[in-house]
Amino acid sequence: MGAAPTVGVLGGGQLARMLCEAASPLGVDVVVLAAESDEGAAEVTPRVVRGDASDPVALRTFATGVDVVTIDHENVHHPTLAALEAEGVAVRPGVGTLAFSDKAHQRSDFAAAGIPVPDFVVVDPGASPAGAHHAVEAFSAAHPGELVAKASRGGYDGRAVWMLGADDVTAFLDGYDGAPLVVEPRLELGCELAVLVARRPSGEVRTWPVLETVQVDGMCDEVLYPAPVGEQVALRAREVAAEVARHTGAVGVLAVELFVLPDGEVLVNEIAPRVHNSGHLTIEGAATSQFEQHLRAVLDWPLGPTEMLGGGVAMANVVGVGDTDPRQRQALALSEVPGAHLHLYGKAPRDRRKIGHVTVVAGEPGAARHDALRAASLLAGQPDPTDGTDRVG
Ligand SMILES: Nc1ncnc2c1ncn2[C@@H]1O[C@H](COP(=O)(O)OP(=O)(O)OP(=O)(O)O)[C@@H](O)[C@H]1O
Ligand SMILES: [Mg+2]
Repeated sequence: MGAAPTVGVLGGGQLARMLCEAASPLGVDVVVLAAESDEGAAEVTPRVVRGDASDPVALRTFATGVDVVTIDHENVHHPTLAALEAEGVAVRPGVGTLAFSDKAHQRSDFAAAGIPVPDFVVVDPGASPAGAHHAVEAFSAAHPGELVAKASRGGYDGRAVWMLGADDVTAFLDGYDGAPLVVEPRLELGCELAVLVARRPSGEVRTWPVLETVQVDGMCDEVLYPAPVGEQVALRAREVAAEVARHTGAVGVLAVELFVLPDGEVLVNEIAPRVHNSGHLTIEGAATSQFEQHLRAVLDWPLGPTEMLGGGVAMANVVGVGDTDPRQRQALALSEVPGAHLHLYGKAPRDRRKIGHVTVVAGEPGAARHDALRAASLLAGQPDPTDGTDRVG
């Protein structure tokens, strides 16, 4: 360990990469535990230890050599992390907070704590097929219309979320053999919001302004500021997010995804106990980025101000289209949108894979959104949604 505090990150993907980028000016040392399959962080730091955070030996060896342990992803060996925490290693967020990555635990716990969530039922078709059928039928009778089934673990970007018509439920349950499921009504949504919140071990909590998230096929495609909600809804969303941070004992940044119903009611969809795609626009768009704030929080340093820096801020994800590589298209994107902030993660392009993002900070929201979408689609080689021109090639 050197004079600078060393933060060890479990996982070497784009979140670790952006943590490294934020750490450099602060004089914070970041070391990354990255598996061969992780891509991204190794391109920006030489301080990479090769190993898998789901491997107890690799995890223990790595964690005992740093001042604070934090995460890039949740696929870590929880018993080892729990043992390290019990031995006094600073694991931030702690294992108690990481347990909330499980959607079934999260929902059940939040409902019991009075945190507003959609109606739901948890079933385990693997352990009890008949019990699962029975419970979902009873739930469906009480909640007519479409249902949504979500695997409690292992999902991201909508890959373990299934929209089910009333007639599809039986066949779906018969064919399912994964982790326990959270089943809930398919809700009519006014919009979806994200609130990023940071909390220090000493208790200080800060939320950023409310952001709108726009999903395409269950995957977050754009994040927009300001969100299209009134002051009351925005205030409520930030209060709920702060309550979630306190309730889960989070340390560092936590992302709270919220549903806003047409009548303005705010429900927690899910949380992620870490920096998050919905917060990427804080890098250029807010007084303190989520990555810097996360480092400050896990080191128990004072948190920074969170106000947004433009009348409109927009982030658009760069999503893979075949093997078109955005790393040859930066000049094209910048020629059309000189003010775009490009972030490419160094990941191999694949269909529907998030391989980068673009942020635009502007005077007003329409211009920010237009420009961010335009630059992102030029990078990805998608048809440009802002003028209908196909830019592939
Ligand atoms: N009950 C619901 N009613 C309507 N839409 C829903 C419902 N649940 C999920 N969705 C839609 O599906 C999206 C993905 O769901 P969810 O956030 O639970 O899955 P995920 O795969 O964990 O997401 P992420 O992309 O955040 O990793 C939501 O953002 C929302 O657009
Ligand atoms: Mg989600």
